[in-house]
Amino acid sequence: MLQFKTIIEPFRIKSVESVKFTARAERETALTQAGYNVFLLRGEDVLIDLLTDSGTGAMSAAQWGAIMQGDETYAGSRSFYRFRDVVQDLTGFRHVIPTHQGRAAERILFHSVLKPGDVVPNNNHFDTTRANVEVEEAEARDLVIPEGRVPAQVHPFKGNVDLGALEQTLARDGERVPLVMVTVTNNTGGGQPVSLENLRGVRKLCDRFQKPFFLDACRFAENAWFVKTREAGQSGRTPKAIAQEMFSLADGCTMSAKKDGLANIGGFLALNDDAWAERCRNLLILTEGFPTYGGLAGYDLEAVARGLEEVVEEPYLHYRIRSIEYLHERLVAAGVPVIRPAGGHAVYIDARSLLPHIAPLQYPGIALVNALYVEAGIRGVEIGTVMFGRQHDGTEKAPAMDLVRLAIPRRVYTQSHIDYVAEAVIGVAAMKQQLRGYRMTKAPAVLRHFTALFEPLTA
Ligand code: F0G
Repeated sequence: MLQFKTIIEPFRIKSVESVKFTARAERETALTQAGYNVFLLRGEDVLIDLLTDSGTGAMSAAQWGAIMQGDETYAGSRSFYRFRDVVQDLTGFRHVIPTHQGRAAERILFHSVLKPGDVVPNNNHFDTTRANVEVEEAEARDLVIPEGRVPAQVHPFKGNVDLGALEQTLARDGERVPLVMVTVTNNTGGGQPVSLENLRGVRKLCDRFQKPFFLDACRFAENAWFVKTREAGQSGRTPKAIAQEMFSLADGCTMSAKKDGLANIGGFLALNDDAWAERCRNLLILTEGFPTYGGLAGYDLEAVARGLEEVVEEPYLHYRIRSIEYLHERLVAAGVPVIRPAGGHAVYIDARSLLPHIAPLQYPGIALVNALYVEAGIRGVEIGTVMFGRQHDGTEKAPAMDLVRLAIPRRVYTQSHIDYVAEAVIGVAAMKQQLRGYRMTKAPAVLRHFTALFEPLTA
């Protein structure tokens, strides 16, 4: 019997969307008009868009079919019950509260249970999670293991929580901790997974200190695949069974269905505690919608329900994780500094180490993102000093890493697109001496990376 090494896309393409080719000069003009912030470009002017893997995936024929089955009843829609049953089968949580996306689930949870001065531990909070904690005047405390902060250091579960540090936080600041969160996979730290063993350790500490434990579950299926392929004793289990065990260790989760829900919009908050669920539902009604639709159309609930079933299929996850690893391998082979090992949804370039001549406060990540756009029409995103460097008092301090994330949308780009991306990154890395830093000319106080404006430094 033949044994194949090539891992193919586990789908055929039935509908295509053209991409627009632009000239380098056109991209330069577009970027200048966007204030050197790629978030402010028109999507049309981007050839390969790796800004995010969120809401940018291709839905399956089965999902589009399910959309036609959407029940738009305001209260008690059939589509809600289908959605609820799928979420409960996967997570086991008693209460399932739909929201329009992940940050709405975060806002509803945090606004319902945090008070000023509280502390929320996490491996790493992602941008909106951190902002939704901080807007309640609470502290978002990152407790990832030390290996998780060193880009070149290889560790199979670089998203793990430092259990010693968590124990210390719970022992010292316990009264101020209303819940513990863990992000799977750890987006800020490079899309790195958390092991089941580590989640069990968090559970144990939460039991000892009597704290609820929540997962930020956006990429739970990618995490389950890493557990299956890297954790001792897990290779014989299905990704779904592993995901079910991950959720069984927690008391609730926030979820952006725009990632591992394989949908273009949607999310949920799911939890066991009756009193918290009631508080959250009341806030949901105020700002999102009735608890059986939570700001979504019935057809969105159908798309998410089907997406949650497809995302744990082995051929899909095998292809998904391999396609990220493929780009990673090419960049590593060319000597481009990247976070190792490859993440689940993205490759993260270590811009600080690629561009040592650009100081962190001159935003090496922005320099690289902008060069990738101008030279190749590729859009990535800075995850570094612009995203996380602003302190409470308005000053700036460089975070642990200045990264550029190339996030791969699910089921969208083919191998030749990725070959083009590899060629572009390697080409831009070779011209690194020509890259210059930036000065920020305008920025809002919160989540400034989305709308900040920049000016290139000339010297
Ligand atoms: N948590 C994590 C770990 C995320 O990566 C995101 C979104 C959210 C929460 C919020 O979800 O966008 O549906 O409101 N991350 C996207 C990204 C935007 O590009 O990584 P949302």
